[in-house]
This record gives sequence, structure tokens and C-alpha cells, in this order.
Amino acid sequence: MKKVIAIDGPAASGKSTVAKKVAGLLGGTFVSTGSLYRLIAYYLLSNNIDPESPVAVASALSDIKLTYRNGDWEMNGIHYTSELRQSEVGSTASVIAVYPAVRNFLLETQRNEARGEGLLVMEGRDIGSAIFPEAELKIFLTATPEERARRRLNDEKGGVFSKADLEKMAADIAERDWRDSHRETAPLKAADDARTVDNTNLSSDETSALIAEKFKELNLK
Ligand code: C5P
Repeated sequence: MKKVIAIDGPAASGKSTVAKKVAGLLGGTFVSTGSLYRLIAYYLLSNNIDPESPVAVASALSDIKLTYRNGDWEMNGIHYTSELRQSEVGSTASVIAVYPAVRNFLLETQRNEARGEGLLVMEGRDIGSAIFPEAELKIFLTATPEERARRRLNDEKGGVFSKADLEKMAADIAERDWRDSHRETAPLKAADDARTVDNTNLSSDETSALIAEKFKELNLK
């Protein structure tokens, strides 16, 4: 089994950027898990399957095959990128992420990534609490909702956005946080033994260096 650094936290807290950099600093493999939920959401939207129907969603899962190849997830052999960033896909992902059938379907897919030797840096919402409860290091990465809204808009609009855009994005993010942290199965929360890192005032380089340092301090063989 690989050693595991689990990085969880709310929407747009910088998990992907930071997890990728931590993997780079420590020579590990980076795996993001949000795209798994986004891929299922995209499949449902593209095939006119109602995401509000747990039965319809559960039965669609048998037509979906997810594989990790060349540093990213593929669905039924196809690699999707910009399709997954649409906000409708993100909000649908958080709707279907509450269904136990979806979470069970994805459990082994994620655990398989720890097979072999080396280090796995995986980011998501429940990596430390549900996927790898035995992870060597668990980080709960957070930032204020305003800062997270600003980061998401910078990503999506290259820094050009109005105050109204910012307010709408902050409301969107707050709604997603609420849904993610109030679902019954594997809700978004810091694992009991996770270290919380608030990176509101830190750059992604500073945050990554801090996490890499915490890992080295564990002095694992
Ligand atoms: O991280 P990202 O914004 O791409 O995730 C999209 C949605 O997928 C989240 O809002 C959350 O509902 C769900 N998710 C999850 N567990 C994970 C990763 C993502 O429930 N490990």
C-alpha cells in the first residue's frame, strides 16, 4: 500500500492546486476525486437522467466505467475536461454525491489508487474520514467563503468579475458547502485526527510547503 496524504475541505479552498504541488514536492502521485462526481453528473445531464431520482441514478451507474489514466479520470474511455467545469455539472455533482449508491460505487475506484508502493496525495471531501481512514497525514484545507469565491472566479473568468458575480458565487459556494456537510453518508467534515489548515492568507506554494513539511516531520520509514 502507498502512504497516503488525504486533503479534504470545502469547495474552492485550493485543494487540487495544493495537492498537486504537495505531490510534486514529495515525489508522489496526485489524484483528485471531485471529477468522479462531476463525471457521473455529466453523464446524467447528457443522457437526460433525472439527478433528483436516486433510483434512476443508481441504475445509470452500471453503464459508467471510470478509469484513472495519464493523470486523470476517464469515463467509458473518454477524457472530459471543460465539460466538467460547467457550474451546472458542479451543482449536480453535489446533488448526486449524497446518494449512498454513488458513494459506494466510487469507494473501490478511489481505494485502488493506493495499490503499490510510494506516496498518494488524494484530495476530496471524505478522503481522510471515509476513503482512507488510516491515511498517514490528513489535512482539512479551508479558507473564508469570500476568498474561495474570489479564487473560483479568478479561475473561471481570469480575474474580471463584478461585485454581483462575487456575491452570487459566494452564495453558490455556501449552498454547496451546506449540502456537502449535511448529507448522511460521508459528509464533508474534518476527520478527528485531521490538521486544519486555513489558507486564506497563504499562497498555494506556502500552503504546499507547509503540508510537505508536516509529512516529513512524521519521519515515516
Ligand atoms: O471538488 P469538486 O468541486 O470538483 O467536487 C464536486 C462535488 O463532488 C462536491 O461539491 C461534492 O459534493 C462532491 N464530492 C464529494 N466527495 C469527494 C469529492 C467531491 O462528495 N471526495
